[in-house]
Amino acid sequence: MGDEGAGKFGMSADDLVTAARHAVRSPHLEPLGVHAFGASNVLDPVAIADHVRATVATAADLARSVGFPLRLVDAGGGLGIPYGPGEEPLSMSGLGRALGDLAAGWAADPVTRGMRVLLEPGRYLVGPAGAYVSRVLDRKAVDGAIVAILDGGIHHLLRPALVRQAQRIELLGDREGTPTGAVTIAGPLCSGLDVLTTRAEMHAPSPGDLVAVLDAGAYGYTESMPFFLSHPIPAEVAILGGRAELIRPRIAPAEWLDRQRVPAWAPRTGASRERSADMGPVASLD
Ligand SMILES: Cc1ncc(COP(=O)(O)O)c(C=O)c1O
Repeated sequence: MGDEGAGKFGMSADDLVTAARHAVRSPHLEPLGVHAFGASNVLDPVAIADHVRATVATAADLARSVGFPLRLVDAGGGLGIPYGPGEEPLSMSGLGRALGDLAAGWAADPVTRGMRVLLEPGRYLVGPAGAYVSRVLDRKAVDGAIVAILDGGIHHLLRPALVRQAQRIELLGDREGTPTGAVTIAGPLCSGLDVLTTRAEMHAPSPGDLVAVLDAGAYGYTESMPFFLSHPIPAEVAILGGRAELIRPRIAPAEWLDRQRVPAWAPRTGASRERSADMGPVASLD
């Protein structure tokens, strides 16, 4: 909560009570508790524990005032991972201690004693397990800065542009000597947004080199804008213990562009008339 989009989520405190009363009276519903997502990518265990404490307190007050057994509190996601250089990882032992202290209090209260508390640690578990790998197409100097243009960018990995948070980027392969310094790593799209970083500490990449954006196992391709400018959608490869397997081949633009249909009412050139006839009738929208 707290960002500009927070207003579309959840419900007001009054509506929560109304909904719980409705559920208690309904023969078809069984109120279990409260599910409340607090914030994304939090690296402070005390802040996460505080959200859990507040959510359980809200749920316990609701169960007491409306009158139902509290069985479940889901405090949502939020367990963060370090993206930028120098960020400290979330301390699991610190979070464990803070939640343990809370659990001791819950066990002493008859309303909270029997409940389960859930967290959704998806990003924490899979984020560091993925990398986005792209090939350098070109390198140039702009006002003294080294700029490497990749064959992939924010259409495959939107997150750095979307949340304006740098991710670690590495040049693959061994290099001699000291890194050049701040390299701009950008994609091929005709958009100033298509920049993965302006300060990668690495040797100057050359065309043909591969670079890897780390921590792309969560909020990677699925959060991005793959259709922008109709570039290919990248292949996905799973790797375990040094064994690699292609789990989704690269998707060529023709695979989705070929599915487009020319509307029957569109002005026709000779070529488009022939092409539409080849493709058969326009698919129903129903
Ligand atoms: C209910 C819920 N759980 C989890 C998440 C994501 O959590 P995280 O930022 O830890 O990936 C979201 C959404 O952003 C959410 O709405």
